[in-house]
Formats: sequence, C-alpha cells, structure tokens
Amino acid sequence: LSTAHFISTQAEPGFAAWFDALVARHTAHLEFAEIRRALQALSTIYVQRRDKLPGGRALDSPGKRAAFALFYTPLHTLICGAVYRALPLLPCTALLDLGCGTGAAGLAWALQGSGADVGAGPGAGPGQQLFGVDINPWVLAEARWNWRHAAAATHLRRGNVASTQLPPSSHVVLGWVVNELDDAARTLLLPRLLDGPQQCLILEPIAKRAAPWFAQWEAAFLAAGGRSDTWEIAMDLPEKLALLDRAAGMRHGRVKVRSLFLVKKSGRTWPAAPA
Ligand SMILES: C[S@@+](CC[C@H](N)C(=O)[O-])C[C@H]1O[C@@H](n2cnc3c(N)ncnc32)[C@H](O)[C@@H]1O
Repeated sequence: LSTAHFISTQAEPGFAAWFDALVARHTAHLEFAEIRRALQALSTIYVQRRDKLPGGRALDSPGKRAAFALFYTPLHTLICGAVYRALPLLPCTALLDLGCGTGAAGLAWALQGSGADVGAGPGAGPGQQLFGVDINPWVLAEARWNWRHAAAATHLRRGNVASTQLPPSSHVVLGWVVNELDDAARTLLLPRLLDGPQQCLILEPIAKRAAPWFAQWEAAFLAAGGRSDTWEIAMDLPEKLALLDRAAGMRHGRVKVRSLFLVKKSGRTWPAAPA
C-alpha cells in the first residue's frame, strides 16, 4: 500500500544559525548532563510509557521541556525538510501546523521558502504565514520563539486539533500528533482532513506495535486519491545534536517515518516521487 524511499536530510540555509541560538538559549540555564538525563526520561515516555502522554507528563519538568525543545525540534525539523523536498507539495504561502508542538513542521517549511521555491532560503516567500495550534501553552511559546527565526508572520493559538477550522484553501501538516490523539478525536478529525484542506500531510513514527487506526487512515487517504509513503532517512545531525543523541544512548543516524499525503483533486497533478 505504501511506497518506500531512502532519502537524506539537508540543512536549509538558516538552520545552523537557528540551531546555535536554540542551544545557547537552553544551555544558559541547564547543564549538558541534566539535559541528557531529561532526554532519556522523555524518550522512555515516548517509547515505553505512552500512557503518560495524554496527561502532559512528557513535558512536566524544565529538563524534559529543554530536552524536547533542543533535541526533538531540530530532529523533526530536519526530517520534515527531507520529506517536504521528496514530496510534490503544492506551493503555498500559508501553512497550518496542527499539534505544532515547538513548531518543527512549520519551521522546516518556512526555512525552505514556503515550499514554493525550495532552496530559495529562509523567509523567501513574501507574505509567508505560519499558523500553529496546540493544546499545550508551553510548546506554543517555544514555537513562537522558533518561528521568529524563520522570518514568517506567525499566528499561534491554544486549541484542539480535532475542532480546528480547516478551510478549503488551507494547507495543513500534522507531525507526530495523530498517534497522540484518542480514538474519539481521531474519528472527528479524519473526515475533516479528507474534506477540508487543499493539501494535507501527516507524518508519523513507524510504530513498533500495530496501530489499527493507521491502517484505517491509510485506506481512507488512498481511497480519496492520496498517497502513503515510508521514508528511511540518513540524518546529517549537527555535531551538538549527535553528541546528545549518543550521550543519551540513542541512535538517530537513520530514522524511519511514514506519511500520508493528500491534495484535493482540483489541485495540480503530482509528478512521480523519487524512488
Ligand atoms: C510529539 S509532539 C509533536 C509536535 C510537533 N508537531 C513536532 O513535529 O515536533 C505532539 C504534540 O501534539 C500536541 N497535542 C496532542 N493532542 C492534541 C490535541 N488534541 N490538540 C492539539 N494538540 C495536541 C501535544 O501538545 C504535542 O505538542
């Protein structure tokens, strides 16, 4: 059902300056060892203790918040950037990042110059706008800081992804969020994503355990004319990120994710994706 690809990350212009500022910001108050320990605790929750996610326990301490901001934001930004480059995204000047967290998916888009002109540089799209929605107020503040570096006009608000308006002209990305929703929220969201936005991209981890909802969503996206892909990504991590990765006992040299992508039929037809 899904097509497998092997791709690699590529730091966009503007990524290095943003990452350096991010490191300086978070290491001003916390030692490397504290961030490493918090990253290990956070990763354990994401991998083994997913029952703690709905209660917000993943981000319940300054260390875990710093680890999320400093490790997962750049990691997800690099991953999103690689997938955006490989998929035939419709050019757009406004993107809605649903469940935006610290803003990785939106940041990757803005760093690519709104997807309209990949490689044109940060903030290349005049009038480029980023919209973000999340239930967690702390991540929204962090996203605001991150998005300032992308020179995009930003609109962030606290809200639930399942009840967010999705106008027909919208372009929507959901990074690593659908698996965090409960079944009721997913049931509300799926038809709205299929019927609403002009284009919709979902990124999800490759689940170790079966995720029955994903098979259902994949079938719905394919039936609507969308596509399902799996991506094995060679990660070119900045030195400090690679150091934190190794110190926390993780190995993100290669990362696998999957995506669902749908463009409304009235949109441009797709060129073939790279093999
Ligand atoms: C794993 S994080 C991913 C964040 C970001 N999209 C990224 O790519 O790094 C999942 C995010 O979804 C948010 N979230 C979970 N359930 C939500 C809901 N019902 N409505 C809005 N946001 C939600 C969490 O607060 C968290 O910021």
